[in-house]
Amino acid sequence: MNRKLLLIISGSIAAYKALELARLARRDGFAVTGLLTDAGARFVTPHALAAITGSRVFGDLWSLEEETHSGHIRLAREHDLIVVAPASADLIAKMALGLADDLASTVLLATTRPILAAPAMNPTMWSHPATQAHIATLRARGVTVVGPAEGEMAEPESGPGRLVEPPELLAAIRAALAAGPLAGRHALVTSGPTREAIDPVRYIANRSSGRQGHAIAAALAALGARVTLVSGPVHLPDPPGVSMRRVESARDMLAACEAALPADIAVCAAAVADWRPATGQGRKIKKVPGEAPPSLALAENPDILATLARAGPQRPALVVGFAAETDDVIAHAQAKRVRKGCDWIVANDVSGDVMGGRENAVHIVTAQGVEDWPRMAKEEVARRLAARIAEVFA
Ligand code: C5P
Repeated sequence: MNRKLLLIISGSIAAYKALELARLARRDGFAVTGLLTDAGARFVTPHALAAITGSRVFGDLWSLEEETHSGHIRLAREHDLIVVAPASADLIAKMALGLADDLASTVLLATTRPILAAPAMNPTMWSHPATQAHIATLRARGVTVVGPAEGEMAEPESGPGRLVEPPELLAAIRAALAAGPLAGRHALVTSGPTREAIDPVRYIANRSSGRQGHAIAAALAALGARVTLVSGPVHLPDPPGVSMRRVESARDMLAACEAALPADIAVCAAAVADWRPATGQGRKIKKVPGEAPPSLALAENPDILATLARAGPQRPALVVGFAAETDDVIAHAQAKRVRKGCDWIVANDVSGDVMGGRENAVHIVTAQGVEDWPRMAKEEVARRLAARIAEVFA
């Protein structure tokens, strides 16, 4: 793997996290060169950045000394990846418009290297049509945009705008540089069961272990994809090199999936609860001696697979669903493929010990026909499925 990063830090309060990113990247074996915009240097000092990167820091387009040491064209060309983190609304706009009035924007215009940008800004600035148009332009030009994440901001406001956390950014950097047939692709995978609250202590769930979905996430990452794994509660370690989104309910899972778009690939391996208790109880339901047990009214959950498969311009190019059946496996899977609007269904017979077990015997149902795969470990199913997906993107 190539190992030279140019880290451009622009003006956002999240700039302090870029120091942690530089530290993690160096520990991972990357050589990191730091470049501060004027606004970036208001949040992070060149001294701190130099100490953490262990090399000189750049920032001034007009510095004769910097230009002689390593001209801006060299800075733009000699790195394997240019990482803009945090990417402010202002720098994103300059990148989209091709402005070049300082060292960062000049390097970004002069480079032929891949660029990864991690936006961080106030949620209103992020959702402004101008910023959204600029982001769409950058994506169309092949810039990998990671985040922003949602949550609490420095200001008393919340929403999308937080810089993605440094470990996750490092995983995205590794994926952007990874060789492999799925390098540069973003895969969204759902895994595990969902939990549907009856009241604050009780819930409805199912026997899914998450083993198949987690193995698929790992296998796609191993082929170079950037993977977002949205998982219900499971007792499994996080697969290496994937970005985790932990959720409980089907509705949380859908929201996390929609927030992770755009993606090239979606694999829905989660065992999403079909129904949830209709009235989310804020208080624990009391057992009253002598009273009849309460009845449980159910409401239908959103179908995540069908929603992703019909996501309009945001629809991943390849959408794969699963079908767990106990009889007429193929016929049901074919009908399900059409009903859900997905491209493939991985169908399995769950009348035996598949659910929660270690092995799986599957059939791949596509528009072209059915492939029957022999019984094998779930990890092997995952590797074969990832390889089959890679063929589509070859
Ligand atoms: O309809 P059924 O549950 O059999 O469909 C299974 C497929 O649909 C799986 O890929 C599962 O992850 C997905 N699914 C979903 N959201 C639901 C129900 C199922 O994504 N609410």
